[in-house]
Amino acid sequence: MTRKLFVTTALPYANAPFHLGHIMEYIQADIWVRHQRMSGNEVHFVGADDAHGAPIMIAAEKAGITPQAFVAQIAAGRKQYLDGFHIQFDNWHSTDGEENHQLSQDIYRKLKSAGFITSKTIEQFFDPVKNMFLPDRYIKGECPKCGAKDQYGDSCEVCSAVYAPTELKNPYSVLTGATPIMKSSEHFFFKLSDEKCVEFLRGWALKDNRLQSEVANKCKEWLEGEGGLGDWDISRDAPYFGIEIPDQPGKYFYVWLDAPVGYLASLKNYFGKTGRDYDAFMADPTTEQIHFIGKDITYFHTLFWPAMLKFSGYKTPDNVYAHGFVTVSGEKMSKSRGTGISPLRYLEIGMNPEWLRYYFAAKLNAKVEDLDMNPDDFVARVNSDLIGKYINIASRAAGFITKRFDGVIATDWATADDAFLNNLRKVAPEIQALFEAREYGKALRAAMEQADLVNAYVDSNKPWELAKKPENDAKLQEVCSRLLEAFRILTIFLKPVLPQLAAQVEAQLNIAPLQWADVAMPLPHHHKINPYAHLMQRVDIKIFDDLFDIPAAPANSATAEAIPVDDSATSDIEALAEEIKIDDFAKVDLRIARIVNCEHVEGSDKLLRLTLDVGEDRTRNVFSGIKSAYQPEQLIGKLTVMVANLAPRKMKFGLSEGMVLAASAADEKANPGLYILEAWPGAQPGMRVR
Ligand code: 2FM
Ligand code: ZN
Repeated sequence: MTRKLFVTTALPYANAPFHLGHIMEYIQADIWVRHQRMSGNEVHFVGADDAHGAPIMIAAEKAGITPQAFVAQIAAGRKQYLDGFHIQFDNWHSTDGEENHQLSQDIYRKLKSAGFITSKTIEQFFDPVKNMFLPDRYIKGECPKCGAKDQYGDSCEVCSAVYAPTELKNPYSVLTGATPIMKSSEHFFFKLSDEKCVEFLRGWALKDNRLQSEVANKCKEWLEGEGGLGDWDISRDAPYFGIEIPDQPGKYFYVWLDAPVGYLASLKNYFGKTGRDYDAFMADPTTEQIHFIGKDITYFHTLFWPAMLKFSGYKTPDNVYAHGFVTVSGEKMSKSRGTGISPLRYLEIGMNPEWLRYYFAAKLNAKVEDLDMNPDDFVARVNSDLIGKYINIASRAAGFITKRFDGVIATDWATADDAFLNNLRKVAPEIQALFEAREYGKALRAAMEQADLVNAYVDSNKPWELAKKPENDAKLQEVCSRLLEAFRILTIFLKPVLPQLAAQVEAQLNIAPLQWADVAMPLPHHHKINPYAHLMQRVDIKIFDDLFDIPAAPANSATAEAIPVDDSATSDIEALAEEIKIDDFAKVDLRIARIVNCEHVEGSDKLLRLTLDVGEDRTRNVFSGIKSAYQPEQLIGKLTVMVANLAPRKMKFGLSEGMVLAASAADEKANPGLYILEAWPGAQPGMRVR
């Protein structure tokens, strides 16, 4: 029976580009989705940006743009990662979309009328300068236990004490430095402590193998722990970037209320675009709703989310699958230690996305375990297994078929009981089941064991020896045809992980896209394949030097993966330069420039080529070391500031006629952000900046 699947990955906050952890999760889910599609199931795989919340609001304010524009900028950068790693979402939406406003408010109204919403007045720290309540992470002060300075509002990094923000000594607002005051306000709560809720969650979380056993055990602890579940504060006061609570002016849903609703909103948006009936699909009892998430957000997905859905009368999730974190050579990824890996840099330096898909898959299982990425291990698995065992089969067989037999396969030798191929085919259900169970490492090991057997067949039949004597032609054609059929079957086994490579193989073997059912459909007698072209390069370990390259100058801050939202308290302000007179400043001719075009510079991993309109009768060509921080399309049309009277400079790539201004931290290793200046609307190209 065809299954109907609705699959999601966690929605990333729209305040930073993707990091390697996001890509790992998407690859994990994408493999599962591709496996389902190859099985003939109906799958809808959607994602979205998690747009709301205080950090994004504050980051947008710092950037001088609306939160909507800020989120749109981040969203515009998503495609290159997703396409780059062959992650095939059907739809990418935003939790600020219309559908999410409507669905979140509907869920709230239904929870309210079912008696699951309560309100109470609570006291919280308030920044009197910024006029806003302060989330814990925006309050710092001295640790009440050890007295360490500049500790966050919830815990001390020096002595590990945990406390309430109100216990901090000499607290200050991270946003303004002001001393926060206590202020009360009405908050709305979801009554998670309601006995009906607890009873439902016990059934939902602990039955039907819905959750991994370690996650189910955690839920049991949460449900049965001392005091049980507390009510959940779902409201925030203005100013807040979020969805308004119906009939409660100035109150917004806490971002974690509307974030998972974004799953439904993205599906609804997608169905709207493709003319499908969203309500009917979600009302269908056979629809399965499956969420892939990281282990840090299980609480939200296994308690709040199913309870919210249940008591508002919505369909509840069928499975929530949590994964661990990615570490690099045994350590948490860190830009300053040089263990940060930028997914975009990975692609830019020409590393093959399918190496990473294969490597992640080889190390993934169904447990909530961290995944360590280690260069030597990466090279060994890609070169020895993927290329040495699998790709080599094609290169050993296809050449003879092309050169000696005009690309024609002979299968007249094939009988239904061809033991060699049948043994290979017999493994398919086991591998399929391993993909189904998210045991990708085991699936690939099983596939590679088969590849070993195929290579043993090559070694014992020695096509290169057969090729020496024309009287062996029939045997040579048989051996190589059998090998190509084996290669075709192995390609099916690997296709969920290596979709691009499988497409190349399909083109080369001149066959339709492979499905699981094709395991049983051999290449026909006299089928003609296309000439063999090499399928995949080996990895050179040296490329990891480029991957881990720590930016030394702002020009190369490629690993700036996050837009810091709380750096005002930790910023490293550079010492002031020597004092100058106004006349000194006047020597620098700063002009407003419009970026009329921007493109990559071939052969440079640092520079972008900018074409600038500075109000002259010609445009200027300027090379700028900002490639790591911006995509060309983000800059085209923007107004910026340039030094217009700088002597032109001849560079390897051409003449640079000036310099655009950008901000960066003093310690660029620790804080590698790079921010180009942007003029307010109304400024015109050529205007002097003084
Ligand atoms: O932890 C995070 O990155 C959240 N933005 C995940 C949200 S998942 C879902 F609820 F939207
Ligand atoms: Zn302390």
